[in-house]
Amino acid sequence: MKLVVALLLLTSGLAQAAPEGSALYAQHCATCHQADGSGTVGLAPSLKGEHWARLGADRSYMAGVLQHGLSGPIMVNGQRFIGSMPAFAGQLDDAQLAAVATHVMSLQGRPGEAYTAAELKAARDAGGSPPQSRERRTQLLK
Ligand code: HEC
Repeated sequence: MKLVVALLLLTSGLAQAAPEGSALYAQHCATCHQADGSGTVGLAPSLKGEHWARLGADRSYMAGVLQHGLSGPIMVNGQRFIGSMPAFAGQLDDAQLAAVATHVMSLQGRPGEAYTAAELKAARDAGGSPPQSRERRTQLLK
């Protein structure tokens, strides 16, 4: 019986995660990255592209960017960006950021397991900074 209740709670939690992720994305991310994640020339990069095969392979990369931000020159789909992605650690909690990260994966057309609040908490606890996220990105794309 306990297991059934746990499963029901789990599935209802998952059912809520998707809409919340898209709503949070629309509210906090779409101004810069556009509703479909294709980015804004000169302002924010596209969140899609072949480089996500590598960036996405380390799930903690996106978690770290969302918690701690990203800054400095980066190449995205052959375009150079020198911008600053704000840290969201102070604005959104781990469950909300997990929902947003999962929504980004769906915009990227990368099917995969939903991000969990625990993964986002691990990134929060690990600490970081915008330049450190960029260093991480460079390593992953080597
Ligand atoms: C004020 C504009 C702005 C907002 C709002 C913003 N971003 Fe960003 N984001 C950026 C910029 C600029 C970069 C690239 C930073 C750089 O040039 O180093 C970036 C980078 C990223 C990256 C890394 C891309 C890569 O190729 O490594 C991800 C993932 C990302 N943003 C997701 C989000 C999500 C999800 C949200 C909402 C919670 C969000 N961003 C909100 C401007 C923004």
